[in-house]
Amino acid sequence: MTESLTIRRPDDWHLHLRDGAMMEAVLPETARTFARAIIMPNLVPPVVTGADAAAYRDRIRAALPEGMSFQPLMTLYLTEDTDPADVARAHAEGIATAVKLYPAGATTNSASGVRDFDKVRAVLEKMAEIGMPLCTHGEVTSPEVDIFDREAVFIDTVLDPIRRATPGLRVVMEHITTSHAADYVRANDRGLGATITTHHLIINRNHILVGGIKPHYYCLPVAKREEHRRALVAAATSGDARFFLGTDSAPHPDHLKEHPCGCAGCFTATNTMPLLAHVFEAEGALDRLEGFASLHGPAFYGLPANEETLTLTKSDQPTTFPAKIDCEVGPVTVFDPGFPVYWS
Ligand code: NCD
Ligand code: ZN
Repeated sequence: MTESLTIRRPDDWHLHLRDGAMMEAVLPETARTFARAIIMPNLVPPVVTGADAAAYRDRIRAALPEGMSFQPLMTLYLTEDTDPADVARAHAEGIATAVKLYPAGATTNSASGVRDFDKVRAVLEKMAEIGMPLCTHGEVTSPEVDIFDREAVFIDTVLDPIRRATPGLRVVMEHITTSHAADYVRANDRGLGATITTHHLIINRNHILVGGIKPHYYCLPVAKREEHRRALVAAATSGDARFFLGTDSAPHPDHLKEHPCGCAGCFTATNTMPLLAHVFEAEGALDRLEGFASLHGPAFYGLPANEETLTLTKSDQPTTFPAKIDCEVGPVTVFDPGFPVYWS
């Protein structure tokens, strides 16, 4: 027996496409399913100015295979030297959709991130004025803060002060991993949203560490305790429009994941929608998948929902996903949920 679910075509509100050969390898994996994605700017060097974003957008468009439709929504990497006027111009010209805040050193390629938040005050004020959202990598980086506490400490010591100091600033808490973050979203007003990844709905920290270390489950923010995973599943499947899909699909070649100092990132572009259908069905919430993947994100960003549709089908045989995506710089392992999935 085949079951099916048709929803509006989804979008990905947090995606790493990289550049060059890696981008060419992973872009079709996203464009096959998603109509639009918020493209992370953490290239080396980062995408900082409107001109950088326009050039990167053009490279993405050029790499898109014939016949695929996909719209990259660009972000600017916030540095202490970011010029508010350049940000406003890029927004007005439709080049940049949002600005991304990485605390310096928080994650892959974040060395140019912000150390002194007073230095970006003028940019944040300009963004509040023009209604341009700030996407945050919500982790502090002080060495004395335990890695499992970094998100909660960020909320108290960075995010909440920024939001109080900049009324009207729209903020997306990206890839939330804790009940604290979900609670903070719920306790605040409509200018605040949060993305949740596919993998954080599926793995907790035991999956990374028990029975041998699993480098392909290592990402940042690192997965937390099971109670937090449960809180994320509850938020994603609740129908609350402040929570929406941002896969944070972050490709690294295998030799850099399976390494003494392995890179952070899970690659989920290929199988996200079947995995989400599995997770939502298990919660009796299949009817809320469309909101999470296709409606809440556009509503937050003030964009129309997609007119096209995506049909997910469930069969009685497990779906076979490719184990790896080939790339010139080395194969990229596709996220393995560790259980059979019947949706495709
Ligand atoms: C991302 C990457 O590889 O660029 N890695 C990750 O673990 N999520 C960076 C990020 O979003 O933190
Ligand atoms: Zn990311």
